[in-house]
Amino acid sequence: MAPHLTPDLIQECRNQFPALSREHNGQPAVFLDGPAGTQVTQSVIDAISHYYCTCNANHGGQFATSRESDAFTEQAHRALADFVGADDWKEIVFGANMTSLTFAFSRAIAQTWSEGDNIVVTRLDHDANVSTWALAARDHGVEVRYAEIHKGDCTLDVTDLKSKIDQRTRLVAVGLASNSSGSINPVQEITSYAKQFNAQVFIDAVHYAPHRLIDVHEIGCDFLACSTYKFYGPHIGVLWAKSEILEDLEAYKVRPSATVIPEKWMTGTQNFASLCGSRAAVDYLADLGRTLANDGSLQRRQALQIAYEAITIYEDQLCLRLLDGLAAIEDLKVHGITDINQLEDRVPTISITHPKLSASQIAFELGERGIFVWDGNYYALELTEQLNLEPEGMVRLGLVHYNTLEEVDRLLDALQEILT
Ligand SMILES: Cc1ncc(COP(=O)(O)O)c(C=O)c1O
Repeated sequence: MAPHLTPDLIQECRNQFPALSREHNGQPAVFLDGPAGTQVTQSVIDAISHYYCTCNANHGGQFATSRESDAFTEQAHRALADFVGADDWKEIVFGANMTSLTFAFSRAIAQTWSEGDNIVVTRLDHDANVSTWALAARDHGVEVRYAEIHKGDCTLDVTDLKSKIDQRTRLVAVGLASNSSGSINPVQEITSYAKQFNAQVFIDAVHYAPHRLIDVHEIGCDFLACSTYKFYGPHIGVLWAKSEILEDLEAYKVRPSATVIPEKWMTGTQNFASLCGSRAAVDYLADLGRTLANDGSLQRRQALQIAYEAITIYEDQLCLRLLDGLAAIEDLKVHGITDINQLEDRVPTISITHPKLSASQIAFELGERGIFVWDGNYYALELTEQLNLEPEGMVRLGLVHYNTLEEVDRLLDALQEILT
């Protein structure tokens, strides 16, 4: 049996996040805003601070601090390669955030498209995986096809998506998990279908990353992007692509910068301190896996596998309790999968609405009670438009492994009080 995250272990995890001890209006704060950015561990803060204290220097210099800074940078690439399951650290590109990286890559990839080609995006995705492609397509006379959703449970209509792929499809851009409904997309199936038509596949793994282990080889995609601030690290973005693609594709870059990978894609001066922090975030998760396995010598990827197995089991418990409690609140609507036998198809991100109060009013009332949640469309604009929920949107209750059953109960009590 896979090792479990016991309440004691969860407390040990929580102790590593200084922000979790914050209070608001005399109550412990409950951080349910993870989908918009999780809190960070002390080890992440220390790694960032250590960088500035010891070797703050630009890349490629002939002196000690620059050499040390470059060594830290390579460590970050290696950590993120382990995180996504890549074989080669040079396949990891860092950037300001997922959106900026995707804009850079969509512009570069679009140079290979011709008029009359098409691309497929989805109505479930965050706009960073929609407009980035739609704008590039517009500039190249390429048609954009939108894969529809099942409105009942806010899952992707995979049959519809497949029907939109043909011989002229150059790219399919799809998310691993919705940052709004929490539903997980069958990206392996989508990728293998797209490959029959030689279409490239770009995966947005931003929302999936704190909940399940990413494996780029298992998915079989060409590109995958995520952001370390969604899994306990600092505000930077990460993109993985196959090395031959990174090598062959022409990057928009300035002339003096390197032509080798990954540097050719990492335009301008990087946020080196945050790169150090991103490595520390991956190592936090790997250390959790080592603790769970009671084996300090586990390789990082193996340790991550164990950590994520336990995180999934634990988060499912939280999700179950929350779905159960929400079902008991009259007139409350969950916009996503509610079937408790389908938990493997969703992450514990639950969007709700209620006729009594607007999304922003509910979020405000919860906020006053020290429960921090997000409201609006969270940039999953196609989805809220499909659900006729613009401009108000929904309230997003986002659980990660540092949340507890007690916090879920407090949230449910507060919702009962506010809504009934
Ligand atoms: C699913 C998803 N994709 C993309 C993004 C954009 O990420 P970034 O803020 O790193 O640009 C977000 C941010 O919320 C997201 O949730």
